[in-house]
Amino acid sequence: MKFFIDTANLAQIKEAQALGVLDGVTTNPSLMAKEGIKGQENILNHYKTICEIVDGDVSAEVIATDYENMVKEGEILAALHPQIVVKVPITKDGIKAIKYFTNKGIRTNCTLVFSVGQALLAAKAGASYVSPFVGRLDDIASDGIELVAQIVEMYGFYGYDTEVLAASIRSTQHIIQCAQAGADVITSPLEPILGLLKHPLTDSGLEKFLADYKKVNG
Ligand code: G3P
Repeated sequence: MKFFIDTANLAQIKEAQALGVLDGVTTNPSLMAKEGIKGQENILNHYKTICEIVDGDVSAEVIATDYENMVKEGEILAALHPQIVVKVPITKDGIKAIKYFTNKGIRTNCTLVFSVGQALLAAKAGASYVSPFVGRLDDIASDGIELVAQIVEMYGFYGYDTEVLAASIRSTQHIIQCAQAGADVITSPLEPILGLLKHPLTDSGLEKFLADYKKVNG
């Protein structure tokens, strides 16, 4: 399973990259705004900087909601760097744009996916990734992990190449459940990823090893 970090924060991206297990980055307009990145030139430069920090794919989202402008924006984003994946929402115009990008050899991440039907359309249009939003489904008392499992199963029936990128990850437990559901990728803030390291028996075991070493070696 690939690990992407879901942030536009350069310090956190660098920290995740330094861990050695980072496969890519996803951003969205909310995450860019959170970092105070505004204006087209600054936004494009920020994407380029992220691409220079990480080795893997970097999802950059279009702002336009109509087909023509999605295509224009996506082409500008894709031309920025070979690691850029154009992130497009699952709407009627979005699907048309994904199909256009597929035909042009531009990779896409179909975002804001909340149903198996939406994921089916994304795969048929040739999306490189599909992003079901786990946490936001859980927020409305639905089951985000179950949706990930259903999409993985459905793509398996037909052999679609589209990778299932579980997004809106809010906890370490979400990451583990996505791995068990067969997600190809999770995208998460840094803290839930670091949470995978934690176990009280690791801490107490290490403490005991060091204490025993000191007893003999001083
Ligand atoms: O990748 C999508 C993600 O950023 C949404 O996360 O926590 O805002 O639902 P969240």
